[in-house]
Amino acid sequence: MAKIIQRIRLAPNIHLLEVHAPDVSRKSEAGQFLIVMPDERGERIPLTIADWDKEKGTVTAVFLIVGTSTQKLSLLKAGDDIPVFVGPLGKASEIADYGTVVCAGGCFGIAAIHPIARALKAKGNRVITLIDVKSPYLLFWEDKLRKVSDAFHLSTRDGAVDNPNTVANDLAGLLEKEKDVARVFAIGCTQMMATCAEATRPLGIRTMVSLNPIMVDGTGMCGACRVTVGETTKFACVDGPEFNGHSVDWAELFARRKSYFNDEIRSLCAWEQEIYS
Ligand SMILES: Cc1cc2nc3c(=O)[nH]c(=O)nc-3n(C[C@H](O)[C@H](O)[C@H](O)COP(=O)(O)OP(=O)(O)OC[C@H]3O[C@@H](n4cnc5c(N)ncnc54)[C@H](O)[C@@H]3O)c2cc1C
Ligand code: FES
Repeated sequence: MAKIIQRIRLAPNIHLLEVHAPDVSRKSEAGQFLIVMPDERGERIPLTIADWDKEKGTVTAVFLIVGTSTQKLSLLKAGDDIPVFVGPLGKASEIADYGTVVCAGGCFGIAAIHPIARALKAKGNRVITLIDVKSPYLLFWEDKLRKVSDAFHLSTRDGAVDNPNTVANDLAGLLEKEKDVARVFAIGCTQMMATCAEATRPLGIRTMVSLNPIMVDGTGMCGACRVTVGETTKFACVDGPEFNGHSVDWAELFARRKSYFNDEIRSLCAWEQEIYS
C-alpha cells in the first residue's frame, strides 16, 4: 500500500502519478520499472520510473490511457492509497561515458527517457534529445528534458512546427549531420522503437530500446513477457526491459502484444457498464 501524492493530467490522455514509496525511491535507477495495481480487483501493470526524489521518498510514473487499468489509474486522486506499488524492477540502463548520445522519446516515453538522459548527462555525455509527438498539445516535460540535454529536437507529425516528421525519420536526418553519435536510447510505443532501430541499423549504432511486452508478475516467474533477442529467449522483466533493438524479433513482439486484445476490450466494456450504470 502506498499513498498517492499527486495524479495530474499532463496531456489529454497522459497522466502523471507521484507516489510516496521511500523504499522504491531509494533504490531507483534509470531504465527500471514498477508494477502497479490501481485497485484490489485490478491487474498488475508495468510502468517505467520517470522520476524520483530520494529526500521526499517519492516515485513518479507517467502513463498513457489505453485500457481498463490505466483508465482506473487516471481516476485516482492525491491522498488515495494504491494497493500494489512494487519496484524498482528490471535491469537499469547501461550508463557510461559514450561521448555523444541520442535519447529518443515518444508518447509516455517522453517521460520514461528523462532519467536515462539525466544519468547520461551526469556521466559527461553530450545528450541530444529527440521528441516525437502527433501535435504540440501532446508535448509535456519539455523543460525537464531541456535541462538534461545539450540539444533538444521536436518533431510533430501534424506539421505544426518547422519539423514535420516521425522520430525515426528525424533520427536518420540527425545522424547524417551528427557523425559521432555512439549510442541511441529509444522509448515509446513498439512501432516507434522498431523504426528507430531500423534507422540506426545501417550505421551500426548500438540502439537500446525499452520493450513493453505483456507482463504479469514482473519477476521472471510467469513467462508472459518472453521476447526473442538475437535468437535467444529472454524475459523482458528480469533480463531487460532494455535490449539492443537490432537483435529484437519485432514481428514476434507485435504479435504477442495482441494476444489478449479481445479480452481487454471485454474487460473495458464490463468496467464501463459497472461504473456508468
Ligand atoms: C516494462 C514496461 C514499462 C512500461 N512503461 C510504461 C509507462 O511508463 N507508461 C505507460 O503508459 N505504459 C507503459 N507500459 C505499457 C503499460 O504497461 C500498458 O499500457 C498497460 O499495461 C495497459 O494496461 P490497460 O489495462 O490500461 O490496457 P489493456 O486493456 O491491457 O490494453 C488495451 C490495449 O491497448 C493497447 N496497448 C497496451 N499497451 C500499450 C502501449 N504501451 N502502447 C500502445 N498501446 C498499448 C493494446 O492494443 C492493448 O490490447 C510499459 C510496459 C512495460 C512492459
Ligand atoms: S512478467 Fe512474468 S516472467 Fe516476466
